[in-house]
Amino acid sequence: MPSSVLRVLSGDAVWPPPLWLMRQAGRYLPEYRQVRAQAGDFIALCTSPALAAEVTLQPIRRYGFDAAILFSDILMLPWALGWGLEYKDGEGPVLPRFESEADLAKLSPERVAAAVGPIMETVSLVRAGLSAETALIGFAGSPFTVACYMVEGGGSKEFARIRTMAQGRPELFGRLIDVLAESTVEYLSAQVRAGAQVLKLFDSWAGVLSPRLFERFVTAPTAKIVAALRARHPEVPVIGFPRLGGLQAGAYARAAGLQGVAFDTGADLRVALPLVDAGVATQGNLDPMALVAGGAALEAETRMVLDCVRGRPHIFNLGHGIVPQTPPEHVAELVRLVRAG
Ligand code: CP3
Repeated sequence: MPSSVLRVLSGDAVWPPPLWLMRQAGRYLPEYRQVRAQAGDFIALCTSPALAAEVTLQPIRRYGFDAAILFSDILMLPWALGWGLEYKDGEGPVLPRFESEADLAKLSPERVAAAVGPIMETVSLVRAGLSAETALIGFAGSPFTVACYMVEGGGSKEFARIRTMAQGRPELFGRLIDVLAESTVEYLSAQVRAGAQVLKLFDSWAGVLSPRLFERFVTAPTAKIVAALRARHPEVPVIGFPRLGGLQAGAYARAAGLQGVAFDTGADLRVALPLVDAGVATQGNLDPMALVAGGAALEAETRMVLDCVRGRPHIFNLGHGIVPQTPPEHVAELVRLVRAG
């Protein structure tokens, strides 16, 4: 039986919908925390194939999700380009700030293939550890979201620096986006060659841009990446996640040539789904906090998503990643609810 996730991405309305969860491997699982402690820091974990493969497979063993997602991080691409990266406990990622033309010269696309070698080894190990029914998802950040962390030097509340650069210095910013887009194609293509069957582009901050800049710095580079990947790997579907992109998601998916589009928690599927072309698969968008709360809230929120997506190709997921305080037994309850249809 081919994987249900691949069937949905080819346009089949599989029921009940297959499911996996963003950040399904992570700190809410005691078995993850154990491996994480063994690895030392987070980058060491991402570049240790045996350990990264183990944490990728942990949630599959525990819950039987329909897809595994490679354990890595979107910021491993700037890391591979030779840009600094550090994860500080309680603070998240910290990077040097991208500020000028001179910084463009500090990016080394020729380093990427060798630097991501261990990650490709993880992909192969994971594929070998999965049955044919479980799809393996490879991923990257979108150029815009990766650029957000580079320009801000880490996370941010307002993303004022990057929004100002995108508005005020669009040529410099466009060149950064181009470098990232080209490396993203190589990085994702390598994941396919190593065994990834689906690709996902995480655009976590797409929604901070004006609609005009959204087209230029989110939709256009995504279209370029998707076209290049489709030329090399026509059988591999690509899912985009334009988080906080609101009503733009349908047009974005169409313009970018995506096979799937993922919705964040705030998207009202009753309004958003009619704007997506019939053959394009959708994904999402349960509130991660309903998964923390459990009980009646989890049941009501899950029911609402299921009622909205019945009859269309859909992959059940959260609207954003699982948070560390999520009780693992609530995830088991969610799997039961979704499988009951
Ligand atoms: O989904 C998965 O289970 C696969 C692995 C994965 C991680 N990050 C592991 C991770 C994926 C797909 C990501 C994507 C990612 N990383 C995004 C896009 C999705 C989103 O959440 O919006 C972004 C913006 C990042 C950048 C990032 N990585 C931040 C801001 C942080 C710190 C915040 C936090 O959650 O700790 C990380 C660290 C990170 N990435 C962790 C994990 C499991 C926690 C690290 C740890 O174990 O200490």
